[in-house]
Amino acid sequence: MSDLKTLPRDDFTIEQDWPAYSAEEHGIWRTLFHRQQEILRERACPEFLAGLAGLGVAADGIPDFRRLNALLGAATGWTIVAVPGLVPDDVFFAHLANRRFPATCFIRRADQLDYLQEPDIFHDVYGHVPMLMNPIFADYMQAYGKGGLKALGLGSLNRLARLYWYTVEFGLIRSPAGIRIYGSGIVSSKGESIYCLESPVPNRIAFDLLRIMRTEYRIDDFQASYFVIDDFDQLFAATQPDFSPYYVQLQAMSDLGPETVTLGDTVLHRGNSAR
Ligand code: PHE
Ligand code: FE
Repeated sequence: MSDLKTLPRDDFTIEQDWPAYSAEEHGIWRTLFHRQQEILRERACPEFLAGLAGLGVAADGIPDFRRLNALLGAATGWTIVAVPGLVPDDVFFAHLANRRFPATCFIRRADQLDYLQEPDIFHDVYGHVPMLMNPIFADYMQAYGKGGLKALGLGSLNRLARLYWYTVEFGLIRSPAGIRIYGSGIVSSKGESIYCLESPVPNRIAFDLLRIMRTEYRIDDFQASYFVIDDFDQLFAATQPDFSPYYVQLQAMSDLGPETVTLGDTVLHRGNSAR
């Protein structure tokens, strides 16, 4: 008999069914959590670390969304909703536009600790939710959802998706102590958390909205270029204008390869494999 609790609803949400996680699954969360704590202490931005602390996303095991939602709702009005996996673009954007973050419930297997291509609960919850505790970032994500619905209608989603990729997923930020990580795809990966800051291979380039929207990205390897914001106010302010004219402008411009450095770039570190 099918389990009614896991049947998709119209908005693709399901129940997390927290009591159903096994001891082994909680153990995988704890392992991932502990090793990231160690690595991120001096590498993640203060906003991420504060969000993580505020959620008490703890070492005890996979968190119950109901508990997180009480804290997240009080902080910024966001809610985590459980989904079975990637959802269609329009559904995803509609959730974000309503301050709902779709998160998967399953956790990777013990032999996938270092890499898995699809998002799991460790990526979605440990990686994304702490930043949603930050008021500016919380507003940015909602604006992105609204912008996504608009970009879909304008046939420019590929441009906007690059912005998400190079900020929400793989963004770096300056801090008095040096460059720090805020991107969720990085903080949920042990290897990339070290690589993005310490490897001489990738480029580190100052944030530039239109430049990012021209830049292709890699989905199956560490990034060839990272873009560094000054602070979250800069990111929010740069993305406030109506993007419709930008999309028109971009149609006349060529795309850039992931590793390309251009004349207009403010290069903080030139990768040693750059063209
Ligand atoms: N201002 C953008 C638009 O008009 C929407 C957006 C906001 C996109 C924030 C990304 C981030 O399309
Ligand atoms: Fe993600």
